[in-house]
Amino acid sequence: MAETLSELLRERYGRSPSVPEGLESSPELRAIAAHRSHRRFADRPVPDALLDTLLACAFAAPSKSDLQQSCVIDVREPSLRALFVELIPSMAWIGEAPVFLVFCGENRRIRRICEMRGPAFANDHLDSFFNASVDAALVMMSFIHAAEAAGLGCCPVSAVRIHARRLSDAMGLPAHVFPVAGLALGYPGQARKITPRLGLAASVHRDRYDDSRLPELLDEYDRRRDAVLPLAPDKQRRPDQFGVAAFYGWSEDKARQVAVRERGDFGAFARDQGFSLD
Ligand SMILES: Cc1cc2nc3c(=O)[nH]c(=O)nc-3n(C[C@H](O)[C@H](O)[C@H](O)COP(=O)(O)O)c2cc1C
Repeated sequence: MAETLSELLRERYGRSPSVPEGLESSPELRAIAAHRSHRRFADRPVPDALLDTLLACAFAAPSKSDLQQSCVIDVREPSLRALFVELIPSMAWIGEAPVFLVFCGENRRIRRICEMRGPAFANDHLDSFFNASVDAALVMMSFIHAAEAAGLGCCPVSAVRIHARRLSDAMGLPAHVFPVAGLALGYPGQARKITPRLGLAASVHRDRYDDSRLPELLDEYDRRRDAVLPLAPDKQRRPDQFGVAAFYGWSEDKARQVAVRERGDFGAFARDQGFSLD
């Protein structure tokens, strides 16, 4: 990676903070700043020893109250992988990735521990589901950092939750264990551009939340992003309903995306997995 940290941050945000001396060439910070998702993979296997090492690094992530409420399903069986592809046909690359993992929230173990040790589990409410989800997300993020540091590329797949029931049954997930996201992993098969992000002024607040500048910040972001990753006119979502926009930026695209209800049954699935979401 040739770029310095401030060059990478400029690509991401249009500008860079003044990076403190000594951090410009930090391999760790440059790797984090250079993140991009990969959906095409080289025909090169990921050795088991490497995968185990990445997983061991991933589970070093912080865990709420040290409860360690996450687990990973390493999907290897060809027929099981084929089921993911069959149910998520728009992401056929799931079938081509050398490795496919599913990061899960795992609230079963602590309930079993209560049974084994005696004290009754008294936290049958939304926070238990939420804590396990956060733990799983942190482990997945650590895994992504570890994988990218080792020269691999990945792409999370929340689409596994579209078919949460069928895929959970196929993976044998018991009550109180649920998929948070899949992750396709392999050596990158093609170069990818950095995806620009909203400026920090939109995401970082000092002392009090304040989104009064959102319109101007969105406009700046839409234009900056469009200059790097323009969305082709034929990629505009639902022109029949919303028309063809003369300028189709990120915010127009995302507004149209969430105008379609998605995974409205996930709460029912979570309840079916034994969670009280009250
Ligand atoms: C929780 C989560 C779920 C995601 N699910 C999908 C998915 O189902 N399909 C997909 O193609 N990308 C998925 N992504 C990848 C995002 O689309 C990607 O992170 C985003 O477009 C920004 O691109 P970048 O990661 O290259 O910066 C997911 C990312 C996250 C964090």
